Parts: sequence; structure tokens; C-alpha cells
Amino acid sequence: MRANPNCPPTVPSLSAPPAAPPPPPPARAAKTRLTFPAALAPCADRMKLTHQPRVALVTGAGRGIGKAIAETLAADGHTVICVSKKPDSCGSVAAAITASGGKAKAFPADVADPAAVATAAATILAEFGTVDILVNNAGITRDNLVVRMSDTDWSDVISTNLSAAFYWIKALVRPMTQKRWGRILNIGSVVGRVGNPGQVNYAAAKAGLHGITMALARELASRNITANTIAPGFITTDMTAKLTDDQKDAILKAVPLRRLGAPADIAAIADFLASDDAAYITGQLFSVDGGMAMG
Ligand SMILES: NC(=O)c1ccc[n+]([C@@H]2O[C@H](COP(=O)([O-])OP(=O)(O)OC[C@H]3O[C@@H](n4cnc5c(N)ncnc54)[C@H](OP(=O)(O)O)[C@@H]3O)[C@@H](O)[C@H]2O)c1
Repeated sequence: MRANPNCPPTVPSLSAPPAAPPPPPPARAAKTRLTFPAALAPCADRMKLTHQPRVALVTGAGRGIGKAIAETLAADGHTVICVSKKPDSCGSVAAAITASGGKAKAFPADVADPAAVATAAATILAEFGTVDILVNNAGITRDNLVVRMSDTDWSDVISTNLSAAFYWIKALVRPMTQKRWGRILNIGSVVGRVGNPGQVNYAAAKAGLHGITMALARELASRNITANTIAPGFITTDMTAKLTDDQKDAILKAVPLRRLGAPADIAAIADFLASDDAAYITGQLFSVDGGMAMG
């Protein structure tokens, strides 16, 4: 992603004269193998993300999408604090990262409990000084039609999927502002964009999360802190394992790319947004959903 003087610009220069119209394509292009002049070989650099080693905290890192994000950030050289509800869950992910040469620490905490988050954050800041990359990923579903949804199912989803992000941001943002560098990633959902029957609680939480992202992006821009939302579609994790085959068939019909996503599909964009290369992107929502919600 870095600019390389040997690489041709990817967009035309504004000052350049208008380019001649491209020649018409051959009637039927034969299968050709592309070869690049030696001078263009360094263009491969464009694909490398720029990361300084930083401290990252990923909630819900014990399984699924959070685990993939934690592993990817650790592979970039970041120290990753893995948070999950069950100690075994984040513990095994942190142990696996450490065993493969990365830096990670498990931190079990109930993200829906503001006191637990405040205590955990204070301990983490005392040990690490700052958290540079915060990924609010922990989430649950408690689906039901609105007339049958209990108050508890409403409030559990709101506190775990929405309020928790506020608790973590509030607890960790001050050192980020002092350092004048930060990345906040909120994991939303396609459901927060287009809705879904049986998920008024989840849709409200995920749409609200992007509200946090936009307000925060404006609030923290002057401190060089970016905030973005990633909105996954249907991803193969424990969360979607409970879907019936009929439900999966119906979902696949709504996915132009005709497959469920993988946790790695989400980790890839999280990795980019956490990098130095994404410095000029803030307040945005990135759908990673196989084309379910376009535009
Ligand atoms: N999978 C999808 O299709 C999909 C689609 C759109 C958006 N998303 C969103 O992506 C995020 C991750 O989803 P996923 O599919 O990877 O979920 P998952 O496989 O069910 O994993 C959820 C993770 O969140 C943690 N967690 C849940 N409640 C918590 C709490 N109160 N305190 C601390 N940790 C808690 C879990 O901890 P334990 O391991 O300790 O239980 C687990 O590590 C969620 O926000 C979800 O809404 C998922």
C-alpha cells in the first residue's frame, strides 16, 4: 500500500492532459500470462501494509471473527490483548499466539458489565500504558419476534453489542489522545444496515454502533484517532452455526457471491484499517457481506 516511485500511479494525475481513449479490446482475448518489466517488480510492495508494533485489544477474541482478528494483528507484530467472557476461550487464543512466536495476553471480562470493563481497562493501562488499536467485536444474539422478545433479551443484546463499546472507548481513549494515534474498529452487521425480522435488539445495537463510530470519528479526528465500522454479512462462526439448513439456503439466495463469509474475510479489512495505510479513513462503514447490502 506504500507509494513506490517505480510504480505507475493508480489514478491519473489531475494535472496530466486528458489520456487518449484506450484501444478497443481484441475480439476474443487469448489466455495470456502477464509479465511485468523488472522496474515494476517493487509494485508488490503495494500489497504490504505498514504497521508499527502497537498494543491492540480485541473483545470477543476467544472465537470466530475476534479470534481471526487477534491472530492477524499478532502476525503483524502487535501485542494483542484478547478479551472474552470465558477465561478458557481468550486463554487458548492468547496461548496459541504466544506459542507461535507472537505477543498476546488473555483478559477474561464480561464486556456488558461497566464495572468489569473499568477494572480490566485500569489493569491493562497500568501494564501496557496505552491501547492503540481497539476492536469492539464481542457480540451475542437473542432473536425473537418483537411481540415475544423479553426485556432481558433486549437489554442483554444492547449491553453486550452496543454499551460495551462505549465502556471500552471511554476507559481507553484518553491515553490514545495523548499519544496522538489510535484506531477504533467497531464490528457492526449487515443487519444494522438493512434490518432482519426477529432481530430488533441486534439491529438496533448494530445500527447504534455505527452512530458511535461517526460521532467518535468527528470527536477524535483532531487527535489523529480514526474510528470505523466493519459490517459483516453472514460469516461461518459459532454464531451462525445455530442457523437451520433452510435459513442458510435463504441467506445464500440473498448473497450475490453465493457463499457465507469466513472470519479471515473480516480480519483482512480489520488489519488494513488498523494499519498506518488507513490513516485518512474515518467515520466509514465497510460492508463485508458478499454483496448483500450494496451502496
Ligand atoms: N457471524 C456472523 O455471521 C456475524 C455477522 C455480522 C456481525 N457479526 C458480529 O461479529 C462479532 C463476532 O461474531 P462471531 O460470529 O465471531 O461470534 P461468536 O463466534 O459467537 O464469538 C463471540 C465472542 O464474543 C465473546 N463475548 C460474547 N459476550 C461477551 C461478554 N458479555 N463479555 C465478553 N465477551 C463476550 C465470546 O466470548 P466467549 O468465547 O468467552 O463466549 C466470543 O469470544 C459480533 O459482534 C457479531 O455480532 C457476526
